[in-house]
Amino acid sequence: MKKIAVIGAGLTGAAAAATLMEQGYQVTVFDKGRSAGGRMSSKRTEQGYLDMGAQYFTARSEEFKQQVQLWLEAGKAGVWACNTALLCNEDGHSSLKNSTDDQARFIGIPSMQSPLNALLQDIPLITSCRIQKLELSQKRWTLVCETGLSYTDFDAVLLTLPPVQAQQLLKQSRLPELFHDATTLLEPCWAVAMQADASPAGDAIFCQHPKLRFISHQQHKTGRNSCYILHFNAAFSAEHLHKPPEFWFAEARVILSEELKIQQNIEPLVAHRWLYASQNDQVPAPGLITLPDQQLWIGGDWSYGGRVENAYLAGLKLAQAIIHNYKLQQETV
Ligand code: FAD
Ligand code: NAI
Repeated sequence: MKKIAVIGAGLTGAAAAATLMEQGYQVTVFDKGRSAGGRMSSKRTEQGYLDMGAQYFTARSEEFKQQVQLWLEAGKAGVWACNTALLCNEDGHSSLKNSTDDQARFIGIPSMQSPLNALLQDIPLITSCRIQKLELSQKRWTLVCETGLSYTDFDAVLLTLPPVQAQQLLKQSRLPELFHDATTLLEPCWAVAMQADASPAGDAIFCQHPKLRFISHQQHKTGRNSCYILHFNAAFSAEHLHKPPEFWFAEARVILSEELKIQQNIEPLVAHRWLYASQNDQVPAPGLITLPDQQLWIGGDWSYGGRVENAYLAGLKLAQAIIHNYKLQQETV
């Protein structure tokens, strides 16, 4: 039985691992975080979860629609009954209007990582384990974790990390650096959660704004702390990347009071910096990076243009490429 190491327990890694496991491969998943989820993580609080990363997902491909249907039936996902709105701010003049559409939007229940955890249910997962080096000897891979522990004897390795982190790992492993544009593919995003008792103007507020990308209200999300989450856009996040949470809380407070006209008390909850958040639409999506001779396979949401759905599809395609490659090898023996 082939032994496969999947590095990264975001949706790409989870989808790849589940597909490989289903086909009889022996899979172990590694993540540097304390739990699986990656950018689909919600933060647990006493009042409920806070979705600091992905807010919802849409399903357009047949493959992902089928998977979402399974999650819905298993109670791991639900439809987000959200009112959509548009916040425009031009030259300091801001306007908020309804922007209704009929797009189905889904959330994990009770947290964003619930669907992903369902995929990983029966798969060995090693967390708090940042892989810092890969070694290939006699066609067997060894993974070295920053704690000093090593995991050995893998036939193949899948890297499902953001490009900068994948490139770093390749470099530390003295492997060829396979990305041309690792630093530009994904852009940063500061995410800020704020408590305010006011009834929200919308649940999903798209922003055409010099600072913001999206404002979400969690009132209609099962299992969540009912609050606002503000996502600052890539340009503003990059410009102030190293500012402390207080800076972001102050920015969020001004926007909520002056642009969403919230009169009630506004309290800061959490600010989180995502260094590698969203696809840079100026850089073409590179697809999967595959080195079948070494059994090294690399992909992520960035392979196909960002978004939760693309992470799922990347995981599926990585697994299919490995399975196809082993079938070819068997046929030529
Ligand atoms: P990731 O989730 O980034 O997974 C990579 C994993 O690798 C991480 O868990 C990380 O801990 C781990 N890792 C990294 N380095 C190492 C190492 N050396 N060793 C071990 N583990 C390592 N998409 C939508 O469709 N809808 C949205 O509303 C939406 N909103 C978003 C809002 C924000 C703020 C952000 C950040 C993203 C949003 N996205 C959204 C994008 C979506 O979250 C991603 O496309 C998707 O979750 C990416 O999954 P992934 O598995 O490819 O990568
Ligand atoms: P979607 O179809 O809801 O949104 C796609 C885009 O269409 C939106 O970003 C927005 O610009 C526009 N849009 C959609 N409905 C709208 C409406 N009613 N009114 C005004 N504009 C509307 O979802 P899809 O295609 O699945 O995209 C995923 C979402 O994830 C997007 O909103 C994207 O911005 C967000 N995202 C955020 C990241 C971050 O770093 N904050 C990273 C990756 C994705």
